[in-house]
Amino acid sequence: MSSKTELHRNYAPLLQALGLPPRSIPNDLLRQALTHKSVIADIQTTHLPHNERLEFLGDAFLKTSLSQWLYKHLPEVDEGVMTQIRAYVVSDKVFAEVARDIQLAPYIIAGRGLQQGVQQDSVLANVFEALCGAMSLSLDFRTVSRTIMGLLHKQLERAIKGEASAVKNYKALLQEFTQAQTAKSLPQYTVVDTRGPDHDRHFVIAVSLNGENLAQGEGNSKRKAEQMAAKAALKHLNALVPVQSPMSPEAQAFFEVQNHALEQPQKLYLAPSILSADFGCLKEALEDVRLGGAPWVHLDVMDGHFVPNLTLGAPVIKALRKYSQQVFDAHLMMNNPEDYLKDFAEAGCDRLTVHYEISENPRALLQKIRALDMLPGMSVKPDTDIQVLEPFLEHVSLVLVMSVEPGFGGQKFMPSALDKIRQLAAWRQERQLDFVIEVDGGIDKTTLPAVIEAGADAVVIGSSVFNTPDPVQTMRQFNKQLKALEQKHR
Ligand code: DX5
Ligand code: ZN
Repeated sequence: MSSKTELHRNYAPLLQALGLPPRSIPNDLLRQALTHKSVIADIQTTHLPHNERLEFLGDAFLKTSLSQWLYKHLPEVDEGVMTQIRAYVVSDKVFAEVARDIQLAPYIIAGRGLQQGVQQDSVLANVFEALCGAMSLSLDFRTVSRTIMGLLHKQLERAIKGEASAVKNYKALLQEFTQAQTAKSLPQYTVVDTRGPDHDRHFVIAVSLNGENLAQGEGNSKRKAEQMAAKAALKHLNALVPVQSPMSPEAQAFFEVQNHALEQPQKLYLAPSILSADFGCLKEALEDVRLGGAPWVHLDVMDGHFVPNLTLGAPVIKALRKYSQQVFDAHLMMNNPEDYLKDFAEAGCDRLTVHYEISENPRALLQKIRALDMLPGMSVKPDTDIQVLEPFLEHVSLVLVMSVEPGFGGQKFMPSALDKIRQLAAWRQERQLDFVIEVDGGIDKTTLPAVIEAGADAVVIGSSVFNTPDPVQTMRQFNKQLKALEQKHR
């Protein structure tokens, strides 16, 4: 099993190791951040100090979110240029500019000032970096700035007022630390040696707790020697204490809220279906839609029983996963998906949509998909009444409305799908749910406006992209049209 698959399956302990609150399902972007190819090797080095792991997370978030943004806005940019842009954006200068725009500069400067001080304080800067990464994922600057201010307020206020030196008082820190660990005992300082003439006296001081020697320090004043002893003791004690999250409850709540917000359909997606691509060049097809600016790839799995056609399965998806960071949105048109769920999870599917028509116990099936860390979706054929899905809406992450009879690309759009989309959108609003509404079949530039107006968020497009001479340009035109529709209807 590849290390990537391992990570896909084991992100929960990974989150825990990072000191982040465990969640049953991370959003696609978080998962991508954690499985970003440049991070995998580093993150697997489990003996890394906690600070560094958080730094990785911040870094991974930044890298992934920047890549996403770049793919979307500058789809023609190649990897080399992308790397340069990323390096530029995460440079101090640009970071500072962003901070100025969101009025966080004093906090960053303070955070960095503190970073030069005692070891714990660098965590603040790293938490900040991680939050900044999260912020750039959601682009919700205000929430993040409020959270960061709440999180770091006290420490930062001290630093901004020029009292940063106060946090370098190792004696006070050691006192706080040991009191927190041992309830009431205080560290004791004892002079164990004095050396040198009166005008250049050198002190050696030992610090102990409950009679147990912790460390020694030296200095040319008692105060200095005590500070040094306290510093050494802190280092020693820190190494003994198991890794703990430096995150306050506010920060944890922030991550929960952000993650939840990210799962909500806030914008419109194109999900190009590679069913209509040249099956001899699927790798190139992925590259085309990436360059064309598609955040998702729609994968049509057909078994020759549920539909009268045979296409691809988990092994092909697994092979394609190597070439794409996009969301893999698999649509299973098969009679016995349950027998293959694990294979699809291991192949790297992010979303897995099954058909209502074959499912004896839809709720259990959806739960099984979720348990395998994929986001579950449910689809209905054109003849199936949308009302059948009503009892399951709380359990789906996506509903896929078929606007053609499943089985083949290139068919004509069936307008009966529009009422289903409207009904789903109404349910979603009434019940304050956040599932994605995806529509599949017969979408071209003439049918796209109606499905968006009806309330669809994700749009599968197959033949109207791949049966054109330049799929990249076609994708870009679709994206342009989608953006205009987004402005009009959302
Ligand atoms: C049909 C598939 C669709 C199909 C869409 O069974 O589920 O995803 O590929 O293709 P077009 O856009 O050509 O209708
Ligand atoms: Zn499909």
